[in-house]
Amino acid sequence: MRKKLIVANWKMHKTLAETEKFMQRFPNEIEEVSGIEIVICAPFISLGRLVDLMRGTPLNPGAQNMHWQKEGAYTGEISPLMLKEIGVKYVIIGHSERRKYFGENDVIINKKTTAALNNGLIPILCLGENLEERRSKKTEKVLKEQLYGALDEADPGEEKLQRIVLAYEPVWAIGTGTPAGGDEAADVAGYLRSLLNRKWGALSEKVRILYGGSVNEDNITQFTGKKDIDGALVGGSSLKESSFAGLIKAVFYEGRS
Ligand code: 13P
Repeated sequence: MRKKLIVANWKMHKTLAETEKFMQRFPNEIEEVSGIEIVICAPFISLGRLVDLMRGTPLNPGAQNMHWQKEGAYTGEISPLMLKEIGVKYVIIGHSERRKYFGENDVIINKKTTAALNNGLIPILCLGENLEERRSKKTEKVLKEQLYGALDEADPGEEKLQRIVLAYEPVWAIGTGTPAGGDEAADVAGYLRSLLNRKWGALSEKVRILYGGSVNEDNITQFTGKKDIDGALVGGSSLKESSFAGLIKAVFYEGRS
């Protein structure tokens, strides 16, 4: 049984003071929730403090990016070792905004995914087609290239591979207020699992697959209610304590009903 996973991606939002303010209230707002893994991926500069503030709560800290080398002459970059040292557990890899604005391609994403696994971090690998690709019915082709590209030669062994989390984030649904339909997202998640199955066999059943793109507390259960969708990667709706808590509680109560 795969444990549900809800991940906040704060992107370039929240100063340190705003992060502290969020953490004053948020743990209380989700006090009744259990059995769901919750991760907050904050800007690098707030991560150390976030790790401290999360102690004694069920929350887990995550980064939004990292370099693949342990150290070196890479001005402005942060290494997996640095994240690990301060207690970060998860790292988002290959978000479409990194692909679009910072030139990340499947080769770079492959190096980062492999480095995360080899350094004891859990990569949340983002995949998704853009509007043009969707219109020309290339979704499956694009996802296959992205997934196999990211995992190419990543063979750190079964124990590590099953820690990978996939996030299906159709680019056209991110930040638009128009999510994919629940059935549509479920079909894609099923397709991704079949791709994993071709590569890794039964191990594919252990990998968690998230949906991301305009998820909120009113629509979340359309996704988490599906067999192959194990949670969500949440942008805008994770920024306010009340809306993020509402979303998590919707998943929690759906699981109990
Ligand atoms: P929104 O939830 O704001 O659409 O963002 C989704 C996203 O990109 C999460 O990584």
